[in-house]
Amino acid sequence: MEHRKISRAVISRLPRYYRYLGDLLEDGVERISSNDLSKKMHVTASQIRQDLNNFGGFGQQGYGYNVKYLYTEIGKILGLDKTHDFIIIGAGNLGQALANYASFERSGFILRSLFDVNPRLAGVSIRGIQVRMMDELVDFLAHNDIEIAALTIPKSKAIEVADILVENGIKAIWNFAHTDLTVPKGVIVESVHLSDSLMQLSYNISQQKEGRKK
Ligand code: NAI
Repeated sequence: MEHRKISRAVISRLPRYYRYLGDLLEDGVERISSNDLSKKMHVTASQIRQDLNNFGGFGQQGYGYNVKYLYTEIGKILGLDKTHDFIIIGAGNLGQALANYASFERSGFILRSLFDVNPRLAGVSIRGIQVRMMDELVDFLAHNDIEIAALTIPKSKAIEVADILVENGIKAIWNFAHTDLTVPKGVIVESVHLSDSLMQLSYNISQQKEGRKK
């Protein structure tokens, strides 16, 4: 299917559609109307229709959406119909927590190795996946087709390590270090800051308390 340029806002909502549709599939639901999906997801039916119209709609008037078809198509749009090999740089608390999360594999993200500078981690394995030392990284990248590197190292090291990754062919960085990375055209950085979400929670708590005072 041909897709036109889709806004980042729509793309950012697709994983949520994908998750809900996956749950519906697991529950054996074959089709769903935009109204019913809207009630489940707490977004307006018109938002759903508008979002999905970006890809040709998928729905049929009076029939609703075919859940499996929609799930599969959104999966394709998100690139989840292919596998993506990835590595983790920094096998500390966060790196190991990510490595322990087996569900990434179910979505096609295959963890191939972790890397660290701490010699105490050499030879350690997490779910059978080996932690290697950073001096093995360049050789590893030369012999393995790795698409994504997750950066879970101190922010003081992130820029230098990102440069090494890019020089050695990494095209996508999943950046957890709290620093902005400048990368050449053609390399993608997706930064995750859990604290941003926590701060939004804190904002909402404050708003609620203010509301109660009035
Ligand atoms: P940690 O100290 O447990 O782990 C960091 C690991 O990086 C250590 O094992 C260390 O040996 C390794 N390391 C240091 N320099 C390295 C280098 N040049 N190359 C490879 N490995 C190197 O720290 P933790 O708690 O796992 O946090 C890791 C990073 O993630 C920190 O920058 C932290 O601020 C950030 N973080 C980000 C979150 C987010 O939501 N974005 C949430 C939690 C942590």
